[in-house]
Amino acid sequence: MSYYLVTGGAGFIGSHLVEELLKLNKKVIIIDDLSMGKKENIPEHENVTFIKGDISDSEFVTDIFMRYQFEKIYHLGAIASVAASVETPLVTHKTNLDATLYLLEGAKKQGILKRFIFASSAAVFGDEPTLPKTETSDIKPLSPYAIDKYASEQYVLTYNRLYNLPTTAVRFFNVFGSRQNPSSPYSGVVSILTDKFLELEKNHQVEFTLYGDGEQTRDFIYVKDVVSALVLVGESEKAIGEVFNVGTGNSISLNELISLYEKLTGLKLHIKREDERAGDIKYSYSDITKIKGIGFQSLYNMEKGLTEYWNEETKRKE
Ligand code: NAD
Ligand code: UD1
Repeated sequence: MSYYLVTGGAGFIGSHLVEELLKLNKKVIIIDDLSMGKKENIPEHENVTFIKGDISDSEFVTDIFMRYQFEKIYHLGAIASVAASVETPLVTHKTNLDATLYLLEGAKKQGILKRFIFASSAAVFGDEPTLPKTETSDIKPLSPYAIDKYASEQYVLTYNRLYNLPTTAVRFFNVFGSRQNPSSPYSGVVSILTDKFLELEKNHQVEFTLYGDGEQTRDFIYVKDVVSALVLVGESEKAIGEVFNVGTGNSISLNELISLYEKLTGLKLHIKREDERAGDIKYSYSDITKIKGIGFQSLYNMEKGLTEYWNEETKRKE
């Protein structure tokens, strides 16, 4: 029997992907160390096997490839925070680069893989000013996170060229939606904002720390669009050996995002200002012509995605 492996499958994007793979009747193995992901994010389903483990442990990864045969691998497991990589680069490097190589080696030796899909990041572009970012835009990583993502994606694509392993890399822009863990200061900004608005709704006193002037922009993409892109690149033969941007092709500043959220919820957020974060990118948005060329369509703009997310969160907290 062969499986779909989702590393980081108990995390935010991974758990949404797993739900979709189950709808497509795939048998899924999730590996996650639960450092950021949660067991309750994993659907209870006869076609899911959860293995708690650390992908930066090469013996563990070797053992997994001895026990299971993989048809497709979605490698999403990572320490997803730019700020965490600035604080502890040696720690994040093990998961964000070494683990990628262990998985590629395992897949190469097994020899039956139909696709290895790697979750890279728009962070690889850094602050090089030309916008929007195409797949051939200059790379200028500003953080250990971005360096490890770029090195990983280059290994992934090089394993295609050198060993004919069918690989694809996707550069996600800023993904948001339910189950993005808000509990750390390193969490994604939309999940932190959502958490603050949920507290405000309960009349609790909260403040949001805004790093920099709020004029930094991001191309926020709703998690359901990201899952469609992941399934699409995993199936398209044209995606083999290629890298794709996964964004919406639009961007919004943090100040605009906060205003939009205040309008949506009817609540007013108290803001504490702090200096810009080290390693932070100022402006980011994607050109998605390439992935559109293989059939991708973003179905959610910021307002539609945020409304669905907020409605889900308020229903869950009732
Ligand atoms: P997440 O933190 O929710 O998911 C990552 C998962 O990996 C977590 O469940 C975590 O517990 C797990 N993990 C971390 N270290 C591990 C290890 N050593 N062994 C096993 N599991 C480990 O983050 P996410 O937002 O779902 O990100 C998924 C992927 O997409 C990551 O590779 C991230 O770098 C990438 N990405 C995310 C975004 C975004 O905006 N969320 C943007 C670009 C790229
Ligand atoms: C995010 C992802 C990263 C991904 C990248 C792709 C997370 C945690 N990080 O990084 O994995 O590779 O997008 O573009 O999902 N901010 C505040 N206050 C807060 C938190 C953040 O002002 O409490 C600011 C940050 O300084 C930054 C912006 O919001 O300017 C976005 O931050 P964040 O959500 O952490 O995302 P990125 O650093 O863009």
